[in-house]
Order: sequence, then structure tokens, then C-alpha cells
Amino acid sequence: MSKKFFLETFGCQMNIVDSEQIAALMIAAGYLQVDSAKQADLILLNTCSVRDKAERKVYGHLGRFKPLKEERPNLIIGVGGCVAQQEGEKMLAKVPFLNLVFGTHNIHRLPELVQQAEEKRKRGSVTEFHDRDTRLNLFPERTVQESVNSFVTVMQGCDNFCSYCIVPHVRGREISRPSDEVIAEVKTLVQQGVSEITLLGQNVNSYGGKDDNEISFAQLLQRLNDINGLQRLRFATSHPKDMTNELIDCFGTLDKLCHHIHLPFQAGSDRILKLMNRGYTRNDYLAKVKRLKEVCPDIRMTTDIIVGFPGEDEEDFQATLDMVEQVGYADAYTFLYSPRVETAAAKMEDNQSAHQKQQRFDRLLELQHKVSTSIWQSDIDEVVDVLVEGKSKREESQVFGRTPSNRIVNFAGSTDLIGKIVKVKINAAYRNAHVGDLI
Ligand code: SAH
Ligand code: SF4
Ligand code: F3S
Repeated sequence: MSKKFFLETFGCQMNIVDSEQIAALMIAAGYLQVDSAKQADLILLNTCSVRDKAERKVYGHLGRFKPLKEERPNLIIGVGGCVAQQEGEKMLAKVPFLNLVFGTHNIHRLPELVQQAEEKRKRGSVTEFHDRDTRLNLFPERTVQESVNSFVTVMQGCDNFCSYCIVPHVRGREISRPSDEVIAEVKTLVQQGVSEITLLGQNVNSYGGKDDNEISFAQLLQRLNDINGLQRLRFATSHPKDMTNELIDCFGTLDKLCHHIHLPFQAGSDRILKLMNRGYTRNDYLAKVKRLKEVCPDIRMTTDIIVGFPGEDEEDFQATLDMVEQVGYADAYTFLYSPRVETAAAKMEDNQSAHQKQQRFDRLLELQHKVSTSIWQSDIDEVVDVLVEGKSKREESQVFGRTPSNRIVNFAGSTDLIGKIVKVKINAAYRNAHVGDLI
């Protein structure tokens, strides 16, 4: 009988893509994937350490597996991803029943580590970083049967070292995947019936920047836009400092590029942006937004914002609020600053109280809610293009899909529509989704 593994994934799209590779490797090694830890011979967690809360969650989850391990001493437990990369051997010391730790550049070694744990009862941790060529060779082959939309990784790692961020420390330096490979993969996916592609990277705008012979990100989008049968293109995440005019202009010229951009601004004041090492000023950012809205008047913008960065005062915070109103974000992911090991900001002096930070955070949420509500309500009575993805979670007779602005729409319709773009008239805008009628 096959051995069984249970895999749980935390964090961003990078980890979701990595988990596909983890699953594929273990299946190739003869394991069967199950959806409950209780039935598993091998439990794997793919972890995120972007904020302290995410990191603590990992230890919480591991604690829950302890009784299982006591019941079944042969159970193997492993941790991968960003917390594994950050902690390495230390994790084995902290969690005595943990068998193995594999870092972000060493997913390919997982089957070997599992085998050693099984046969020799050996505990192991691999966290070394690899160079560009090795990493390009290890780029996962796509294994998952895709549906309507699919993610395609165009780059890994990050070189930006924003002062608060652990990602460059746990993912290593930025590498771009050769454009020929990306284009070939998208073509294959489209042949398999995929309608929408989202290109992924921590900072897709600097794609190809380190290779003299590589095309720019805007050129990559142009080439992908030409693929017959592809209906929609998206990408995430963009860094404002690398958002070129050439790229902005794509929103006016490429018919498949969805009119939505996630463009994190993090903080509204120049003083804080500088301390964050973001590489742009408030006015640089606003100038790019202006151009985006000129070339694509119906573009919807979303963003990430950090509240409570060390030394942020009321004036700085007002500048953040002001930005939210001026730009008019359809949605914002708002975070309370969380100090991370090894980062520059963790050493900065911080004199704000937790209470003060929380109050600011709540004020920001309130404002953002008001802005989002007014933007989404402006869709009521409009007819929008919806790419149908599947059965709605809301009602049996409904299906759901997304607008180009990435908003979920639920409406009565048949599952035959899955994969097609249809016209839907919006009747209501709720907090997380629209509801409409097929026309
Ligand atoms: N590469 C992406 C985002 C990476 S992490 C980018 O540059 O936009 C996702 C978001 O988490 C960031 O945009 C930031 O808003 C938030 N974040 C990262 N580190 C953080 C920290 N130490 N505390 C609070 N929020 C953080
Ligand atoms: Fe982190 Fe900045 Fe890199 Fe984004 S660009 S992953 S916030 S260091
Ligand atoms: Fe988290 Fe690592 Fe992604 S820290 S946000 S899983 S790159």
C-alpha cells in the first residue's frame, strides 16, 4: 500500500507554486496525497515568515501534530518554505519531534531527506542557497492539471531589500526565467484550455534586468498578448520604482492585459519611504498613477500599506491616508509593521505604542472601506465582462467568475459557461463580491 502525505501551504503565490512542486516530487517518489494529517505517514508544512504572526502560526500548527507523533512514532514531519529557510537547524532544536527542514532553494532534495528520515531515523536540515544556473535548472516542471486560470512564475527571489522585509533574506537573489521558456509554457497551457494567465514574481517589473540579452517585462507581455487562444493576462507584484513608461503603456495597447494593477505604495510620506528603502518618492508614485490613468482610464488599482513603521508620526500617517483618497484604491492589503530578524528596520528606534499603531490601523481600515465601497458600488447597473471560473460557493444554481478588475461576480448560469467570457449586469456590490445577471 502507498504511503500517504499531507501538505499544508501558507503565504504567497510563490509558496503555492512551490507546493505544486513538492506534491509532484512526493507523488513521483510513490506517495499518495491525502487531505487530513491524521491519515498521513508524512506531514509537510510549506511556511511563510513575512510577519511575526505567520511565523508563530507554524509553531502552533506543529504543536498540533505532536500528539499524532506520540501515537505513531514512525510519522515523519517536515517543514519547508520561508520559516524553514530562516531558521534551518534551529528549528530542529526548537521542535524535538520535527524530522526535517528544507529551505526555499532545496525543494528538490525533499525525497532524499524523507528517505533518510524513514530509513536511518536521521534528522536533517538543508538551507544553502544556489547560484543562478543551478536554480534555473531546478525550475519546476509544470505538473498540475490546470483549469481556467493559471499562474506562471517568471522570476524568483528579490534584490530590493526594503528595510522591513524578510523576503530577500529567505528567497535569495532575483533570477529571471528565460522568456522563451515562459512563452512556451503559456502556449502549452493555452492549448490545454487555460484562458487566463497571471505572471508571478516578487517584483515582475525588473524582469530580465540582469541579463543583457533578455527582453523587458513589457516586451514579454507583448509577446504573450499575441498568443492565439489566450484571453486574459495579469501580473503580480509590481514595484513602483521599476514601473517603466513602456510597461504603463501596455495597459493602453495590449487587448488581453486586464485593467487592474496591484501597485504597493507601503507609506505615503517621503521620510518613511526613504527609511523603508523603497527607491521612490510620493510624487514619483503619483506621477506613475497619473500616466496609468491617462493610458487606461478605467484601470482599477489595489495596493499594500504598512502602518506603524518605526518612527512614523501623525503627519506621516496623514500622508498615507491622503494617498488612499487621492489614488482611490479598489482594495488595499493593510498590515501592522512587524519587525523581522536580519532586516534593517528591526534595528531602527521605534517610539510608538502598540495602542497608537492599532488606532491608526483602524482609521486606515475605515477610510479604505469607504473608498472601496464607493468604487465597487459604481459598478452597479454596469455591464461587465466576466471570465467564468466555476460553480459559485454562494448558491447551487450560480456560477462565479472575475471581472478584468479582478472582482468576483456571482450570477445564475450553467457550468457550460466555465472558461468563457460573458457579459453580466451588476445588481449589487457586497464586501467581497458582486452579484449580477447574465445578459
Ligand atoms: N514583493 C511584493 C510583496 C511582498 S510581501 C512587493 O514588493 O510588493 C507582501 C506585503 O507584505 C508587502 O507589500 C508589505 O506590505 C507587507 N510586509 C512585508 N514585510 C512586512 C513587515 N515586516 N511587516 C508588515 N508588513 C510587511
Ligand atoms: Fe520585500 Fe521589497 Fe522585495 Fe517586495 S520588493 S519582496 S517588499 S524586499
Ligand atoms: Fe511569505 Fe515567503 Fe511569500 S515570507 S509572503 S511565503 S516569499
